[in-house]
Amino acid sequence: MEQYKIKGGRRIEGSIDACGSKNAALPILAASILTGEECLIERCPAISDVNKMKYIIESIGGRIKEEDGGLLVDSSFLGSTEVPRDLMQSMRSSVFMAGPLISRLGRAEIYRPGGCRIGMRPIDMHISVFEAFGAKIRSEDEKIVCEAPPGGLKGAEIKLPFPSVGATENAVCTAVLAEGSTVIRGAACEPEIEDLATFLKSCGAEIEGAGSSVIKIKGVKRLSGTRHKVISDRIEGGTLMLAAAVTRGSLFLRGGVFAHMESFLMALSLCGCSVTVYNDGIEVKAQNRLSSLEKLATAPHPGFPTDMQPQMMAALATADGESRIEENIFENRFGAAKELNKMGAHIEIYGKNAIIKGVRCLEGKDTEASDLRGGAALVIAALAAEGESNVGGIKHIERGYSGLDERLRSLGADIERT
Ligand code: EPZ
Repeated sequence: MEQYKIKGGRRIEGSIDACGSKNAALPILAASILTGEECLIERCPAISDVNKMKYIIESIGGRIKEEDGGLLVDSSFLGSTEVPRDLMQSMRSSVFMAGPLISRLGRAEIYRPGGCRIGMRPIDMHISVFEAFGAKIRSEDEKIVCEAPPGGLKGAEIKLPFPSVGATENAVCTAVLAEGSTVIRGAACEPEIEDLATFLKSCGAEIEGAGSSVIKIKGVKRLSGTRHKVISDRIEGGTLMLAAAVTRGSLFLRGGVFAHMESFLMALSLCGCSVTVYNDGIEVKAQNRLSSLEKLATAPHPGFPTDMQPQMMAALATADGESRIEENIFENRFGAAKELNKMGAHIEIYGKNAIIKGVRCLEGKDTEASDLRGGAALVIAALAAEGESNVGGIKHIERGYSGLDERLRSLGADIERT
């Protein structure tokens, strides 16, 4: 099984271009089938989740190929309305395909994506959204069939009980071609939702308020193809910043957007890092050992992102003092703690709280990643540790990080993919 072999203690420093956002590219690739024309999506990261989305698009009859440094999606001829079962269960974000399928073809056949390491991750809110537009839902074993009513989908008043990113994205994708107007209240405000709306507006959709908790959409008859450059990945960029922070290094993230990362950058400065915002990127510097954080709570955007929580837990493992992290989005997202404790960390989990007693340094050990961001946390810990670590299970990491070893090597890390 592939591993990252990491010799810790090397300072991570230098500058690097931010890459395209996984969590913007995936819904935008799914939404491109709404147009029935060619869409060029630039800056899609070369990661396995994007490959899976390519496969889904092909499996319903779409064509997708690399072109001009991006992915060219041609959805003029779609033949199937079924998302392959194995993909639904291996990549939860395949549920993003449901809204576009119901809108474009009047029908979507999806499977319960199944929980994953970080939580149950049900899709009840997605289903309620489709029903609000008039779709009929029925279950056939694990398959869920969503069908538009004979007269077509109608605009709706939607109130999300929780600002679910995926349910908001499915609601937007279902509303843009529905007849009449839609209002989504309690919408998620993540930058990736704004980017999806920017993409759809460039296809001719009428959307207001994306990025805020109230999104208004006026249905249009059709959408045309476009060319769209995906926003920078705030989580991949934040992960590299933490690698610099734990090794007393410095990182200039070219293309990093302050407004997308504000709460994370606030936490870094509270830990003693210096954060400087330029017009073309963000610089993070850490001269000393990080300070602990009395309490860090994850929350929907603009709060501290849950996708940075495991990596922050790794960074606080060597901070000076005791920290507490409260995970409020997923019910089981402290999976990395056990592996970090093997390296000498002192982390105790109490329900949704992690208590981290900072130690002066961690020891390099063999560890195993079991989910995407928990795996990234193990890489950060290995970079900070004394001695050599082998991080296994990197297929989880490569779902969301393209060439992480190369990118870290270019910043001074002693890391190789074996
Ligand atoms: C998106 O997942 C991201 N994935 C996740 O990133 C991210 O952690 C999450 O949003 C929160 O920011 C992509 O964008 C591809 P949610 P999503 O619906 O849409 C519960 C990563 O590491 N919920 O906002 O699935 C759910 O169980 C990944 O890149 C329901 O109960 O997240 C969770 O507890 C991990 N019913 C909470 O809401 C539903 O119908 C937030 O989920 C939907 C969600």
